[in-house]
Amino acid sequence: MQQVNLGMIGGGTVGSGVFHALQLNGGLLASRTGVKVNVRKIAVKAVDEPRPYRIPEAMMTTDWEGVVNDPQVDIVAELAGGTGIARTMILTALKLGKPVITANKALLSAHGEELFAAANDHGTNLYYEASVCGGIPIIKSVREGFVGNRITHLYGIVNGTCNYILTRMKLEGIEFDQVLKDAQAQGYAEADPSLDVDGHDALHKIGILASLAHGFWVKPEKIHFEGIRSITQTDIRFANQLGYTVKLLGIIKSAEGEGSKGEGRATKGEAFAGSLTKEKRSRSIGSALQDASATKARNGARVQVTVYPTLVPNTHVLSSINHVFNAVFVRGDVVGDTLFYGRGAGSDATASAVLSDLADASLDLKFETKHRLPPFVPHEKDGAVLPIDEVVSRYFVRLNVVDMPGVLAQVSNILGNASIGISSVIQPQGHEGKSVPLILMLHDAPNGAVSRALKKIGELPVVKAAPVMIRVENFE
Ligand code: HSE
Repeated sequence: MQQVNLGMIGGGTVGSGVFHALQLNGGLLASRTGVKVNVRKIAVKAVDEPRPYRIPEAMMTTDWEGVVNDPQVDIVAELAGGTGIARTMILTALKLGKPVITANKALLSAHGEELFAAANDHGTNLYYEASVCGGIPIIKSVREGFVGNRITHLYGIVNGTCNYILTRMKLEGIEFDQVLKDAQAQGYAEADPSLDVDGHDALHKIGILASLAHGFWVKPEKIHFEGIRSITQTDIRFANQLGYTVKLLGIIKSAEGEGSKGEGRATKGEAFAGSLTKEKRSRSIGSALQDASATKARNGARVQVTVYPTLVPNTHVLSSINHVFNAVFVRGDVVGDTLFYGRGAGSDATASAVLSDLADASLDLKFETKHRLPPFVPHEKDGAVLPIDEVVSRYFVRLNVVDMPGVLAQVSNILGNASIGISSVIQPQGHEGKSVPLILMLHDAPNGAVSRALKKIGELPVVKAAPVMIRVENFE
């Protein structure tokens, strides 16, 4: 049987998991691909660092260059992480024409365009299944499984730490800070939680998926993102009362079919919804929304690519994705709705994704080809990310107001003048003369119009704290 030699960089959570999975299932992999993968060397930061699975000392070195440049190493797996030296490691391997496997979402988000071009220029492939949602084969599914579809909608719960915190906040009624502390103590959250809870990690993953789905490179600075630090028990309770659950959702949504000339590309579902809702839309969507649609129609294909806390209806399957699990909901114009669920992080789940890439890289070498579906097919050359001000959604708004006559009229006046419709209002009883939460659900409107209106509302003397706004997704 043909053999290939793997050089690994990184022997921590992911690297040692890959080493262990190869011990466990290397034979199975070989029987399926006809190629035996032999781990030649593993470059590590320190031989004695703690790791979930043992690696024999003789397998390890601290010289990554020695591993990459070793003429006996056929495939390189960069599992070290970070955006500094990791870029050099990958470029060095690609320049030698070696297939590279990476789990590094932050690096791909920042330098993906350059790295994929380098792979192409040097006649090899860069594989990255482990970079998004760990064990869920979402890269392969979007890249290959849905090659015959336009991906009109993709919704992802792609950060396990945030999902774990939001799940416990909902189920146990405790505040963010307390759950975070507890999650850190139990090792579910990092000591510096910012990458996760402020939305950066989800942004990296959603950017990669958006580039893949829409065939133009989505730069991270174009992606509007928000984390979950501002979510409170009050929001979670009122959302639940209204039939919703708060999730940190990555959204990739074709802006076509929302009133511009995109009908030719609308999904079956959209075409149906379009005929049902046209009249409703003209009633409920104000002039601000029509202005946004007109701007959109003048431009090329535009896509919403965002990460923010979102109210998901309790009747939608994504509302029940709990704890550290990830899920991705993909709608294609041919296939319709699909759902992927699994562990998005951890040694074993991520190792499963790396082994899948290893099979592909082994086959490339066996058949002496680099020809696979390109990672980023430029089918939407004029594509662009929709500016957040033009993104249209519904809204949950929480105000803290003085409970006295005329307050609601002042608030609704500002919203009405901005052509923003209110779909429901909740105000708990028994707070006369004191400050009280006032919850509003708003109809479809562009983010820009809502932000401006909320700024004005926040300046009213009867409003006692900055308005809180959480977007609502109804998956239509
Ligand atoms: N820290 C990430 C998460 C996993 O919590 O989902 C790695 O991207």
